[in-house]
Amino acid sequence: MVKLRVPAHRCSTANLRAAYPFLSAGGLGGNGVYIGSDRLGGSFSYDPWELYPDRRRGYAGALTGPNMLVAGQVGRRKSSLVKTYCWRQHVFGRKLAILDPKGEYGPLAAALGVEPIRVAPGGGVRLNPLDPGPGAADLGEREVRRRQLVLLQALASASLSRPLGSEERTACDLALRAVNQGAGRVATLVEVVDALLSPSTSAATSVRTTSTKLAQASRDVALELRRLCEGDLQGMFDGPTNVEIDWDGPAVVLDLLEVFNSEALGLLMTCATSWLQSAIARPAGGKRIVVVDEAWAVLANLGVARWLQALAKLARQWGLQLVVVIHRLGDLLAAGEEGSQQIRLAQGLLADTETRVIYGQPPDEIGRAVELLGLSETEARLLPNLEPSAGLWKVGPHHTHLVDHRVGEDEWDIIDTDARMRR
Ligand SMILES: Nc1ncnc2c1ncn2[C@@H]1O[C@H](COP(=O)(O)OP(=O)(O)OP(=O)(O)O)[C@@H](O)[C@H]1O
Ligand SMILES: [Mg+2]
Repeated sequence: MVKLRVPAHRCSTANLRAAYPFLSAGGLGGNGVYIGSDRLGGSFSYDPWELYPDRRRGYAGALTGPNMLVAGQVGRRKSSLVKTYCWRQHVFGRKLAILDPKGEYGPLAAALGVEPIRVAPGGGVRLNPLDPGPGAADLGEREVRRRQLVLLQALASASLSRPLGSEERTACDLALRAVNQGAGRVATLVEVVDALLSPSTSAATSVRTTSTKLAQASRDVALELRRLCEGDLQGMFDGPTNVEIDWDGPAVVLDLLEVFNSEALGLLMTCATSWLQSAIARPAGGKRIVVVDEAWAVLANLGVARWLQALAKLARQWGLQLVVVIHRLGDLLAAGEEGSQQIRLAQGLLADTETRVIYGQPPDEIGRAVELLGLSETEARLLPNLEPSAGLWKVGPHHTHLVDHRVGEDEWDIIDTDARMRR
């Protein structure tokens, strides 16, 4: 018998794409919510939980992580995409948690039958960032204390713009312990500040110092934390939480419009995000989408950047999808000085977002997009000339789709942010 041996054909990928010019990766399938029409034909649907590997179905998965980054110039309809995506996911029982710095998710909240929580100076709403939330019993006392300490130290370090020294860290720990004495009560920032300014003798003795020396060592921290309890910022984060929240309802929307231009936005966001975290990081919390719109404005804040990155890392474990909206990819690099912690956190965040939706970018941003997202030449050429409704969806390592986002008749009310321009 004669055996025919055909030598394997080898060629570069550049040659291969000329030999097979009209091939592209297969679609993502129809499971998930409808997004719009795919320029390569058919409709485009997406759901990170559906695209996750599932051994029981023998499905290898298109994604290994659920998070999404949406980037595009001002007015490119990024928020519209996110709002309709949330609305459509709600139909499938996904829950939502939205940080809304521009106060524009009100109509979506109304459609979902929930009232946004408006954080504003003198607005009457108070959220206690040290509140362990509804999952406290599942977390256990140790974990609750650990989180409270991390938050205190993050707040103090963000507001001092430097890492805390060991005495300062210890003083935070001792102050929290003192305040938390007596089970069943939730510490507040005002109490912690008091305990930092006047530490007890027993707290000081436990670290072989005097209460005067301990108070002196942590005075800067105490005074910075006191800012959140006095003046303009008073009444928002300095006492027990005073709003009733339906944790199992369809959405929690935190409207931060009134504090968006505050000098202390970073601190306020750190408090707000920490409070939100206690609500969403629950074993029985269900599948939830956490949206941080206008994230570019807060990435420069170390506390918030840390929170975002930690959330991105933990998303899979908690069954969450984090959706981060920015303008330019350069926003990620503008978060801090070259080599700074902020930049590393922003880059880490990018690495943890496997779904990237890129709307039109100005020509001077294309180089960055190629560098940060590993775009091909063709993809890079598309970006400056994309129509407003078209987004380049990069889903996992193998899927790229050019998608025209479609808006349904009954969805216009939840996405319109131009009403004031037209009026
Ligand atoms: N398919 C569409 N056709 C026409 N108008 C649309 C469409 N999708 C959204 N819009 C409108 O475009 C306007 C801007 O959209 P949107 O607020 O989502 O932009 P954005 O990218 O989030 O802007 P910003 O950068 O300011 O946050 C909104 O008023 C919205 O109603
Ligand atoms: Mg927007």
